[in-house]
Amino acid sequence: MNATSPFDLSGRSVLVTGATGYLGQEMARALARSGAHVLVNGRDKARCAALADTLKAEGLTAQEAAFDIRDDDEVDTFFTNFDASPLACLINNAYAGGGGTIQTASLDAFRTSYDVAVVSAQRLIMAALPHLKATVAKFGDASIINLASMYGLVSPDPRNYATPEGTNPPFYGAAKAALVQYTRYAACELGGDGIRVNALAPGPFPQTNVQRDAPEFVAQLAQKTPLGRVGKAHEIGGPVVFLASPASSFVTGSTLRADGGWTAW
Ligand SMILES: NC(=O)c1ccc[n+]([C@@H]2O[C@H](COP(=O)([O-])OP(=O)(O)OC[C@H]3O[C@@H](n4cnc5c(N)ncnc54)[C@H](OP(=O)(O)O)[C@@H]3O)[C@@H](O)[C@H]2O)c1
Repeated sequence: MNATSPFDLSGRSVLVTGATGYLGQEMARALARSGAHVLVNGRDKARCAALADTLKAEGLTAQEAAFDIRDDDEVDTFFTNFDASPLACLINNAYAGGGGTIQTASLDAFRTSYDVAVVSAQRLIMAALPHLKATVAKFGDASIINLASMYGLVSPDPRNYATPEGTNPPFYGAAKAALVQYTRYAACELGGDGIRVNALAPGPFPQTNVQRDAPEFVAQLAQKTPLGRVGKAHEIGGPVVFLASPASSFVTGSTLRADGGWTAW
């Protein structure tokens, strides 16, 4: 990467929560290829270390940063001991939660989904803020990316799902929609500090096991996008690098859709 490229993240760290997941791994790789030192988060320390090692074996730079984003103490400890290069970007990407419908989902599933998607974003932003401010002072730019979803913007079509348990659930989109609004709020509050805050809304990126086990479902998803196909995991990399880097230095409060056009019609 040319040092003058606005996409260059050399000399800066990026924390990716849930980096060991399907899309998180490709986010981490794309950021590292843009020069960033990637802090690989997830709850499983061994999986985080393995991904960091894989990236290092590819000639990139990364380190394990395992902690539970829902745990106040673990988050505090991580940021208190933070000694990597200046933190240029926090990516609130981690998510965990099952399926369901309004008629089958438990109230606990609603609470958990909101906690992991929205409350944890607030927890991470509060802890990261001093580091992001220091990066603005040094480089003139720092940003936060919150992973939303096409289902935070439009509803899933219940007819796509065979069972209630396998249905994209009501709490998922509700939490992601809340995160989109939280993103706007954060952009307005933190803009004065020079910190940009954007949401990224992926469309259909069915995971490897779904592609293998449910080809008809995947085909159904594909025909619902104007591009006529589902996303490949690496295609999340470009949008993430754009929002994380000075290439998007005047972009804040936005929701970038990487959805093959799913929400366009
Ligand atoms: N794939 C899609 O089609 C799609 C579409 C739209 C939006 N999205 C969004 O994009 C993001 C990534 O999706 P994905 O498909 O890559 O998800 P994924 O494969 O399920 O990965 C989720 C990641 O979050 C981590 N995680 C879960 N709970 C955590 C916690 N409490 N603390 C720290 N890490 C935690 C998981 O690791 P551990 O379990 O080891 O902690 C894992 O690394 C999510 O926000 C998702 O909602 C995905």
